Amino acid sequence: MSIDEAVRLTLQSALAEHPCGEGDTWAHVALLQRIATDPLLRGLARGSTTIQQVSLSASPYTTLTMRPHTSPAVVLLRDYEFAASHRLAVEGLPDEANLALFGKCSNPNGHGHNYRLRVAVDPGHGPDALAVDLDAIVESSVLQHLDHKHLNLDTPYFSDRLPSVENIAITIHELMAAALDGSPLSFVGVRVWETDRTSASTSDRV
Ligand code: NI
Repeated sequence: MSIDEAVRLTLQSALAEHPCGEGDTWAHVALLQRIATDPLLRGLARGSTTIQQVSLSASPYTTLTMRPHTSPAVVLLRDYEFAASHRLAVEGLPDEANLALFGKCSNPNGHGHNYRLRVAVDPGHGPDALAVDLDAIVESSVLQHLDHKHLNLDTPYFSDRLPSVENIAITIHELMAAALDGSPLSFVGVRVWETDRTSASTSDRV
């Protein structure tokens, strides 16, 4: 049997068993677990093919991924956006030297990006996780502090680190880890895109 055929047959039976409405994250988690543990797909995996990852796009902003032999097996990915300006420059260096180091990103008066943020959590910790409003936590812990701000001037996070995309990802990771500390929704990591081509992540699951 081809992998296409096995996936089609698995989907048919899994969707019949786990009908899920829009926004019903737990139904999507159950569906993904059902697909990833399907005997047909597992049988296929005993041959020369192994299943590395199964992904389910639940909405344009929500994706679930499952790696059958990894912990956590299922990760929920949720996407957000924020606009911010920044300047990459080493303090004390002349503008020309900063231009040589950081190119256009060292423009003395700053410049803006529309950043995309993906937050990854492990949703597999029981029904208590259902009550957690991830969007509200990201809004109050991250977006409120960064959206429509000059990252160097309007936030306290980049006084001792450059607001590069790598450091923005590390900063948001720290904010989210603190916000979800003790929550039934376990934090996994983040990815931040500065442009479509340039991003940084703090976990290989994002
Ligand atoms: Ni820039």
